[in-house]
Amino acid sequence: MTCLRNLRIRNAAIAATLFAILLSPLAVTRADQRRDKDAVPNMAAFPDPAGVIRTFNLGGAIDLSGPFFQTLGTNGRSCGTCHTPGDGMSVSAAHIQDRFESSRGFDPIFNSVDGTNCDHGIDTSTRAGRAAASSLLRTRGLIRVALAVPVTRDFEIVSVSNPYGCGETDTISTYRRPLPATNLRFLSAVMFDGRESSVQGGTTPILFSNYPQSLMGDLQHQANDATLGHAQGMAPGLSVAQQQAIVEFEMGLFSAQAEDRGAGELTAQDGQGGPRALSKQFFYIGTNDPVGLDPNNPVPLKFNTKVFDLFDAWQNSHEPRRRSIARGQMLFNTRTFTITGVAGLNGATFSNGVTGPATIVSTCGICHDTPNVGDHSVGAPLDIGVADPPGGNNVLNTSYLPVVTVCQRPSLTVCVRTTDPGRALITGSFADVGKFKGPILRGLSARAPYFHNGSARNLLDVLDFYNSRFQIGFTEQEKADLVAFLSSL
Ligand code: HEC
Ligand code: HEC
Repeated sequence: MTCLRNLRIRNAAIAATLFAILLSPLAVTRADQRRDKDAVPNMAAFPDPAGVIRTFNLGGAIDLSGPFFQTLGTNGRSCGTCHTPGDGMSVSAAHIQDRFESSRGFDPIFNSVDGTNCDHGIDTSTRAGRAAASSLLRTRGLIRVALAVPVTRDFEIVSVSNPYGCGETDTISTYRRPLPATNLRFLSAVMFDGRESSVQGGTTPILFSNYPQSLMGDLQHQANDATLGHAQGMAPGLSVAQQQAIVEFEMGLFSAQAEDRGAGELTAQDGQGGPRALSKQFFYIGTNDPVGLDPNNPVPLKFNTKVFDLFDAWQNSHEPRRRSIARGQMLFNTRTFTITGVAGLNGATFSNGVTGPATIVSTCGICHDTPNVGDHSVGAPLDIGVADPPGGNNVLNTSYLPVVTVCQRPSLTVCVRTTDPGRALITGSFADVGKFKGPILRGLSARAPYFHNGSARNLLDVLDFYNSRFQIGFTEQEKADLVAFLSSL
């Protein structure tokens, strides 16, 4: 804390100047106008549904001619095709639809390698054909991620019912949201299923003992895979120098909501919102680990449910919207509910030998424990039910997704139906069906829809899901406060 304060004082002069520039409405316009040129100025303002998101790059202005934004493959795509500063380094479904309209479906994001619902048996010769072929990308922001079923496994894929074709049972077409390529310094696993941080894929699990080398190595591997896959690059792919340049860029980027339409600057009145404060956030693997998942973590477990403290100073603000954001933060930190049936948590055996109780009374933070960031501070793939097909307890509409039936070997009598087998497609373990990592909870407003499959169209949908899944009993006011808080991250 002291350390943080010192830094703040040292930067006070710079901050004051910047603050003055940023407060002027002209700064917003100028940043917007420069978006398509060679650089995005540091802290450029990008409007989003809740206000303004900004990205702070430790290396200065974002160089749009750097390798992250170059077309390093063969299909006209760059990393920036799906990870753009204006969308918190992800891409919102609304902006994808805009891109479809303005390019009539010819923007490289719609390439049929993975920008269409299936890569064969589609007609993209007409505008209507292209619209239909990319319906999941346009409406839910979903990229098709085709994953080979691992050879070593304790399950069989018994059937795939995919309304778009691509129903093969040896390669499963999953549909996933682009994760933000920012704030990556805080990652404990790369990709929703952690596949770029897994021995099975030739990458390294991220632990206290090998961080940050493991993370940076994983990100290099990921950059190469993305070039060969999404961008259809030629083997062997990127040079080591290109991989390193991309990772260096990614590790220095911080994005967060910076202005809220109702509350104004999220740094006003001692608020700690925005990407600058985030860039100074202290972190190590297992920082606030609630259950001891990393056996190498030498720091004794001391889970503090108070995961966020950004808006503490707003509790008694005279501005109603600021008080609402502070109340939402308080709910996130303190509201307890009963967590049951979460594979990877309840009944799971952790690396320190402890078994997770069948019911756990805790807060949002038990799974979103990294202070002021909100992902898991240790790799923790969990099944909270987001991939469940329609018809069960899932209040989210997942009817637009394929249904995969997975049965346990050898008897094949125990089966589950899922819209995405998740981590099981990496580990080959039946116990991992439906498990995903919790993403970083910063910059949310710029990147709707939410969850790996885009099934929550907005943050209210997210809360309705949790309210039903864990019988929390949020009131309408509590939901509104939580939405105000989450939108300000
Ligand atoms: C066609 C769209 C697309 C392109 C192009 C693309 N990505 Fe991604 N990116 C995705 C999707 C989808 C995911 C999540 C996939 C998953 O988890 O299975 C993702 C995930 C990531 C992640 C993981 C973040 C996390 O929290 O785990 C990083 C880092 C990343 N991309 C960087 C890159 C880089 C670097 C490039 C260029 C070399 C690139 N991406 C190109 C769509 C894209
Ligand atoms: C039992 C663990 C657990 C609890 C408790 C939990 N989450 Fe999550 N959260 C996750 C996981 C896992 C994901 C990713 C799920 C997916 O995409 O399949 C997630 C995803 C999210 C997302 C979507 C992020 C994105 O980029 O799409 C939001 C927002 C979120 N959680 C907020 C909350 C809030 C608010 C609470 C408390 C009401 C909460 N979570 C409680 C595990 C949990």
